[in-house]
Amino acid sequence: MSPTDPNTADRSPAARKMADPAWWTTCVAYQIYPRSFCDTTGNGIGDLAGIRAHLDHLSWLGVDAIWLSPFFTSPMADAGYDVADFCDVDPLFGDLDEFDQLLSEAHQRGLKVIIDWVPNHTSIEHPWFAESRSSTDNAKRDWYVWRNPGPSGEPPNNWTESLTFGPAWTTDDTTGQAYLHCFLPEQPDLNWDHPAVEAALHDTLRFWLDRGVDGFRMDVVHLIGKDPDLADVAPELVGLPQVVLNNRPETHERLRRIRSLIDAYPGDRMAIGEIYLLDTEQVASHYGSNDELHLCFNFPPLFAKFDAESWRTVMDDTVASLDPIGAWPTWVLSNHDNPRHATRYAKGQEPNDAAARARAAAVLLLTLRGTPFVFAGEELGLTDAEVPEGRRHDPAGRDGCRAPIPWDATPNHGWATGTPWLPWPPEATARNVDTLRQDPNSILWLYREVLALRRSRPALRVGDLQRWDLHPDVLAFRRGTGHDALLVLVNMGNDDLDVHLDLDPDAARDPDPDHRPSWTMVCSSVEGVTDPATTAVVWSSRLRRNEAVILGQ
Ligand code: NOJ
Repeated sequence: MSPTDPNTADRSPAARKMADPAWWTTCVAYQIYPRSFCDTTGNGIGDLAGIRAHLDHLSWLGVDAIWLSPFFTSPMADAGYDVADFCDVDPLFGDLDEFDQLLSEAHQRGLKVIIDWVPNHTSIEHPWFAESRSSTDNAKRDWYVWRNPGPSGEPPNNWTESLTFGPAWTTDDTTGQAYLHCFLPEQPDLNWDHPAVEAALHDTLRFWLDRGVDGFRMDVVHLIGKDPDLADVAPELVGLPQVVLNNRPETHERLRRIRSLIDAYPGDRMAIGEIYLLDTEQVASHYGSNDELHLCFNFPPLFAKFDAESWRTVMDDTVASLDPIGAWPTWVLSNHDNPRHATRYAKGQEPNDAAARARAAAVLLLTLRGTPFVFAGEELGLTDAEVPEGRRHDPAGRDGCRAPIPWDATPNHGWATGTPWLPWPPEATARNVDTLRQDPNSILWLYREVLALRRSRPALRVGDLQRWDLHPDVLAFRRGTGHDALLVLVNMGNDDLDVHLDLDPDAARDPDPDHRPSWTMVCSSVEGVTDPATTAVVWSSRLRRNEAVILGQ
C-alpha cells in the first residue's frame, strides 16, 4: 500500500499518530531551573534574560523543548513553588515583556516552551489567602481548607506535609482555625471542591495559553482531588507525606476538564503532570482514556539504582502499566528535587567509573521509548554542590542539585556576579559549557550526538521497544520501526564483558558475510569510541563496565 494513495491509506487514529506524532511524544525536553541558569543582573539569581541569552546553545545541543520551573511572583519560601500571583513574573526574574521575548525567541528557534503551573497551593502571601484567612465568613474562606483543631489544639487529622515532615496543618491566630498545607505552612492548599477555585485556576491556564506557551508541567496535580472527609491515614502510613498517598477519584474529572480546556486551544498544547505517586500503575491512571494528562512524570526510574535488574523492573512496569491504555511514557533521571543522577550513581565508585556511569546514563535516557527530560547541567556531567550550612536555602535540603550552571571557566563562570545564590557545583572550572564545547570527546558532545541520532532515527523517536535478556548485568533493548532498528546495550555491572549477540544463530553461521546481519557500532558512551569510523561488525564484542553502546544495522 502506498502511503500517498488516498484510497488505500490507513486513516485509523493509530496510523495517523504514527505518521504525524504530537511534538510532545517525539521531543526531548530540557528542564531549566531559572534561579540557577544564568544571572544577567548581578543579583546572583538566574533570570529570564539569562535563559534567552543561551537559547542558541540549547539549539546547538539539540533539545526540542524547554520546561521552566516557576518564575512567578513569590516570596520564595519554596523557591517559587509558593506563588503569590499566577499571572505575573517575579521581578527577580524579569517581567512579562521579558517572558514574551523569551517565548518568541524560543519559538523562532523551533523550541517549544513548557511552563510550571502550581494548582494545589498558593503562597501564604497570595491575595486569595489574605482574604480567606481574614474571617470565617469571608467570601474566599472556602477557597482554602479550614477546619477546627482538636480540643487540645491538635491538628484536624494526622496528615504529614512533604518538605519538613511536620503536620500538614497550621492553626491561624486570626480565627483560631487550622488550614491544610501538604507542603510548607507558607503554601496553603487550595480547595478544589469549590467551583470558583477551579474557575480561577482555569483562568490562569488561559492567561499563559493566550500568551502562546506550548504546555504546562503541572506541579503535584494529583493533589487537586482530596478526600472530602479528610480522614486520617491508616496507622501504618502515619508519617508518610500526603503527596505520595493522595490518589483520589475526584482528581480525574478535574483533569478531564483541564484537558478539554487545553485541547480547545489551537496548536497542540499539552500538559505533563507531576504525579508523585511512587507506583507506575497509579501514575498511569492519570492519563485517563487519553482524556486527562497528555503525559505524566513517573518517578520509580528516577529512584532506580544503576543496576540492570532494577532497570529491567522499571522498564517492564512501565510497559505493563502504560501500554494497555496506549499512554506514552516519560523518563527522567534528575530534577530540582533530588540529588543528580551523576551524584547518585557515583556512590562507592572511583571517579572514572562515576564519570563513565553519567555518560552511559545519557545514552540510556535518550534511547528509551518515551519522552525524555534532561535536567539542565546533566549534559555537563554535573554532580551536586556541597552547600555549607550558612548558604542553605531549601528547608527540604534540595540545594545541592540546584547549584548554578557554569558557562565558562572564568571565576564568574559567565554569570554577572561571582557570588551566585548557591555555591558552584564541583569541578566548575573543567565542567562548564565553554570548556566542554571545545572537547568533542566530552559528555556534552555525547548528549549532542545522541540527541542528533534520536532526531534522525525513527527507531528512537517513535519505534517500539523490545527488551532483551542478554546477560544479567546488561540492560539490552531493541528499538525499531519499519526498516529502522537499533540495539542499545548498557553494561551496569562491575566487569568488562564479552557480549554475544545470538540474534539468529543460523544467519550468523552463513558463510556469505553479506547474509550475516551486521550490527555495527553507531555510538559508544566511552570517550573516543564515538567516531562512527570505528565501526565494527558486532557479533561478539567487548562491552566495558559502565559502557553503553548503540548498534545499528
Ligand atoms: C513539587 C516541586 O517539584 C517541588 O520543588 C515543590 O517543593 C513541591 N512540588 C511543592 O510545590
